[in-house]
Amino acid sequence: RLLSKALQQAGGGAPRRLYCTKGFFKSPHRAATTSSATSPKFDGTNDITTTPIPEITNAYPDLLTHRSIHQFSLEQPDEFWGRLARSRLEWQEEFRTVTDHDFKNSHFRWFPDGKLNVSVNCVDRHARRHPDRVALVWEKDEPGQQEYVTYKQLHDDVCRVANVLRDSGVKKGDRVALYLPVSPLAVASMLACTRIGAVHSVVFAGFSAEALASRIKDAGAETVITADQAVRGGKVIELKKVVDAAVAKCPSIKRVFVGMRTGAKVNMGPKDISLDQAASGASTQCSPSVQGAEDLLFLLYTSGSTGSPKGVVHSTAGYLLYAAVTHKHAFDYRDGDVFGCMADIGWITGHSYVVYGPLANGATTVLFESTPTYPNPGRYWDTVSRLGITHFYCAPTALRLLLRYEDEWVQRYDRSSLRVLGSVGEPLNHEAWHWFNDLVGEKRCDLVDTWWQTETGGIMLSPRPSSPGAPILPGMPMRPMFGMRPVLCGTDGKEIQGNGVDGALCVGSVWPGIARTVYGDHKRYVDTYMAPYPGYYFSGDGAHRDKDGHYHITGRMDDVINVTGHRLGTAEVEDAITEHEEVAEVAVVGYPHEVKGEGVFAFMVLKEGTHSTNEEITVDLRKLVRSQIAGYAVPEVFLVCSGLPKTRSGKIMRRILRKIASGKPEELGDISTLADPSVVEAIVNAHAALP
Ligand code: WT7
Repeated sequence: RLLSKALQQAGGGAPRRLYCTKGFFKSPHRAATTSSATSPKFDGTNDITTTPIPEITNAYPDLLTHRSIHQFSLEQPDEFWGRLARSRLEWQEEFRTVTDHDFKNSHFRWFPDGKLNVSVNCVDRHARRHPDRVALVWEKDEPGQQEYVTYKQLHDDVCRVANVLRDSGVKKGDRVALYLPVSPLAVASMLACTRIGAVHSVVFAGFSAEALASRIKDAGAETVITADQAVRGGKVIELKKVVDAAVAKCPSIKRVFVGMRTGAKVNMGPKDISLDQAASGASTQCSPSVQGAEDLLFLLYTSGSTGSPKGVVHSTAGYLLYAAVTHKHAFDYRDGDVFGCMADIGWITGHSYVVYGPLANGATTVLFESTPTYPNPGRYWDTVSRLGITHFYCAPTALRLLLRYEDEWVQRYDRSSLRVLGSVGEPLNHEAWHWFNDLVGEKRCDLVDTWWQTETGGIMLSPRPSSPGAPILPGMPMRPMFGMRPVLCGTDGKEIQGNGVDGALCVGSVWPGIARTVYGDHKRYVDTYMAPYPGYYFSGDGAHRDKDGHYHITGRMDDVINVTGHRLGTAEVEDAITEHEEVAEVAVVGYPHEVKGEGVFAFMVLKEGTHSTNEEITVDLRKLVRSQIAGYAVPEVFLVCSGLPKTRSGKIMRRILRKIASGKPEELGDISTLADPSVVEAIVNAHAALP
């Protein structure tokens, strides 16, 4: 009731109910175009957009189909993105140049001479027009305790926090680490950084002190913003204690702001400042810093196949525009909708589709603090019905977890507000697709499987935008967004033509949301993304282009695994495990897991003469991985082996270990190139003996 009241005050009316695609489909030109005899075959891109792009169609009235607009966006990127950037962002100084790329050195620049402030774009301009519109709905851990934050209130909070940061000496360009629960405080802190031109680095609040410390050090942050505690799934998490442990290892830290989530009494040291106290006395006006379009907006650390996690750098204007445009068009978002993305703000999905995309579009966005099963497996749908959510975006791992429970957990809640369902992070298998589409969405919602990455800033492949007449096929992200030219490359590094083919998924265009660099290590950026297939951005994923031209993701091609939708480098887990003094060698691989997508499997060789039992070592190792990385990285299985399969040059043959971990020893293939093929039999036997 509160929400609909606030929405009514904002002139938005009650939360939208079901959107009738039929009526829309019947509109004259759409019907005419779909029934056009010239495009009888649906080839993946010849459909019509559901969400018109007035900036483009007003200037180019012939561009009505997704195919033609998409093609235009590739052929005339300056014209396409220039028009969108002028109309969808508010500039302090308008740009004259749209793109200025230096391909040779992999430097990509969008709107380089433009000036703008992200917090003004996400808050001020909406607060001016609709001060009472709800910006944030905070779905707190305990159901039924939701809180609403209007654009006016968000504006005031952002300014208060920004003033506190500025007054305490945080300057433009400084990196600020955020370690916070999903909350309005987190959003206000992110936006406060953007207001003064500071660069935030949000660290998922499930990461350990060690992981937080390494991210603080890599970014050279002097400031941390955290909270006393977090609550998730009814459990209290001692955030401040983790921060204390991390800060003890980071001499660069000058100040730690401590916000209040539970009000628990926490230890306050000489560097600690109560954020609530400081902010309550601060002004609700704060002049926005004038930012260059290419100034750093944020860092977000993500795992790669080697080394420590990389600080992926996103820039101010290009990222914001791409997040906003994809939020509107992949999801067909409209004024008055309630956008429910379940992701934690610690991941890119939370950045782009909880915070930046929705707020740039003046949307009402949900901050989900809890878990899919707290206090019961109906939590998501209870939230949908209480908040009137129109768009529900989550990870397949959550769906696979929930579909194991009775359908009743879904059916007992009113889901008639839902119009669009979305999935991200991993392949959406057919069972989960049908459960989501048929049961949750009652087959009347659009379900979009969206493929993208931390590095892409926003959605790259997604079945929408397209016409209601164009079918969405289960289990694949299907087709490219504007500005994205998907390319499959072969082992020779060349583009593979035609349909019905597999290859390395690359991008043959430059889009505004592309990550600009790896923080402090541009060479690593070039080596990881640009060098493997010269002339293209390489995603690390493999893909299949089917006979109709639709894209299916086949999975990572590197040593990155995907556990409960979280990206994890096997090398990181190996590094943590080898810290144990009784472990001689370890190899970590992923294997298919029914709920988690992939599970983590550690094969290890112990040092000779170890006194501890295997059980004791396993207990130590679980603790070790948890304290070095995070809970989700802890291997499901630790298998002690007498040796690991290696080539004569000493390289571990992970392909073989993956097969064994997947329970497919009969598919090992040729093992004759191993230095000692007999180790394989020993490992297979040890695996078979696992309980
Ligand atoms: C990796 C990126 C981008 C938000 C969440 C993850 C995998 C992502 C899909 C999808 C199959 C997917 C890829 C990708 N992935 N979306 N729809 N179907 N796989 O971001 O942590 O940067 O991970 O997630 O392997 O490379 P991330």
